[in-house]
Amino acid sequence: MASVKLVEKHEASTMRATFKKCLGLLLISGLLLFLFCAWRPGTSSGVDLRTRQRGQIQKLLKGKIQDIIGVYPDIAYHIKDDVACLLAQNTCMCRADEETFNLPFSNLLFPHVWAHNIDLAFLESHPDPSGVKRHRAQEYSSFQKRSYNPADVLIVAEANSPLQYPTQGVEVRPLKTILIPGLGLKEETGSNHTVSLTATLGTFDVAATVDRVSVKGGGEKHMILSSPLLTSLNRQLQFVTYTNTLFHPKTADTVQFATDVHQSFFTIKVGHGIIPRLYNTGNPREYNISALVTIATKTFLRYDKLKDLIDSIRQYYPTVTIVIADDNEHPQPVTGPHIDHYIMPFGKGWFAGRNLAVSQVTTKYVLWVDDDFIFTANTKVEKMVDILEKTTLDLVGGAVREVTGYTATYRHTISVEEGGEEGDCLHVRNGYHHVVAGFPNCVVADAVINFFLGRTDKVQQAGFNPRLARRGHLEFFIDALGSLHVGSCSDVIVNHASKIILPWSKTDSHKAYEKFRYSSSGADDNVYKEDFYFKNRFKCMTSQ
Ligand SMILES: *[C@@H]1O[C@H](CO)[C@@H](O)[C@H](O)[C@H]1NC(C)=O
Ligand SMILES: *[C@@H]1O[C@H](CO)[C@@H](O)[C@H](O)[C@H]1NC(C)=O
Repeated sequence: MASVKLVEKHEASTMRATFKKCLGLLLISGLLLFLFCAWRPGTSSGVDLRTRQRGQIQKLLKGKIQDIIGVYPDIAYHIKDDVACLLAQNTCMCRADEETFNLPFSNLLFPHVWAHNIDLAFLESHPDPSGVKRHRAQEYSSFQKRSYNPADVLIVAEANSPLQYPTQGVEVRPLKTILIPGLGLKEETGSNHTVSLTATLGTFDVAATVDRVSVKGGGEKHMILSSPLLTSLNRQLQFVTYTNTLFHPKTADTVQFATDVHQSFFTIKVGHGIIPRLYNTGNPREYNISALVTIATKTFLRYDKLKDLIDSIRQYYPTVTIVIADDNEHPQPVTGPHIDHYIMPFGKGWFAGRNLAVSQVTTKYVLWVDDDFIFTANTKVEKMVDILEKTTLDLVGGAVREVTGYTATYRHTISVEEGGEEGDCLHVRNGYHHVVAGFPNCVVADAVINFFLGRTDKVQQAGFNPRLARRGHLEFFIDALGSLHVGSCSDVIVNHASKIILPWSKTDSHKAYEKFRYSSSGADDNVYKEDFYFKNRFKCMTSQ
């Protein structure tokens, strides 16, 4: 903006006289600019993607923090145990609740916390425990390198710095140029004022020049600005540009801004913007469930249950699309309008089926149901759409009513405590974080029941690990921790067809289903242990 103004002023005073000259100059400079832009040194040679920049500046930052911590060595302090113990120490312990009393039903009222040593359980049955441990450490280290972002590095602003600079919010698109806002120097006027700028992933320049200011290193990673006049230098600092030169879709450059005696650091985020994924859902004034929601389910050996589910859905939502993932050995046709029936290889399993079903959804929201659920007048999908439309939640669970009348919401909180080299500790507890304002029947939690409505793109992003074939539910919410904002409403209820079936009324397919679902071979068990031990790098899980 400022540079445009300058050009305008300049043109107003000398416009007619120099019009032709200017035009010629413009053409020439345009050509030069074109040549300069077309010829980019270094772009043809490869960029080393193997390690991320952790250069001079990062070392300097580390040293500075050490200096600050090291001050006042001879002043004594007294640790407050009750507060200090709240701080994470990177040494989580695998501890269960101590058994205090043992009355009948006490576990229902005060659920007992159990602890499970995942590393022991997994490693003791593994043929090469030290090998798998080493492999996990290697994989973890390269994961950390990939997910490292210089913008996460701690920077402390030192006291009494005369330097003014932006602390956050500066962003540049890959290989583009921006004006750095807010740079300035506030010191007593002297005979020579000098500042310097240093970057690692880009170069500096000035978009305009100011008289009596010397600029050295324009177009380079290190630029020095000096002037005998402080005001001129500050004027010049308003025109400093930063150009990202090393392509990365999402990273940050730590810039050093310094005088002879003072140093400051700030980060410039480098990255593409987030491309939105919007859904055109028609009239936004009323919720058209058929246009907004797809119902997804996975079926295995329970066509009778599936038919009841579909019939119950059709009573309330006759045109909503139902996606069915089916991994039966002998698939039967499931027909009807607005039904997409996907046949999978036999026995591919629970999460693979969820993944497939969810991947085929084209509406804004996906409603997950089990194949033995029944819709009733209490299954108001509109309510779930409403809360997702009006809040920042990504997924909202409902309630499932058993034949006995018992209604479950399965609300859990999940937290991960750091545990050093052996892995971290996963803690799962009954409960929720807080009530959602404006929705008195809804709360925020980390994991909810098997009946939920989610933003399709967010659920797809989190994904269902297809290795988990027989069971799995919590695993999805653990993978999604930190990326999904999860809620739970107790007033949207679906019925559950009986789980407890009297033996004489069991059909052959029931028996086969139970055999398949509840039998767990040793190899199958190991997949679950490995999932926690290796994939999620846990050493311990505690739960209620
Ligand atoms: C001001 O000081 C800087 C270094 O401190 C030096 O590079 C520069 O030439 C000096 N400028 C003048 C005008 O003396
Ligand atoms: C609701 O959406 C469906 C599917 O997109 C569409 O066929 C139907 O006409 C819509 N109904 C209304 C009332 O807009």
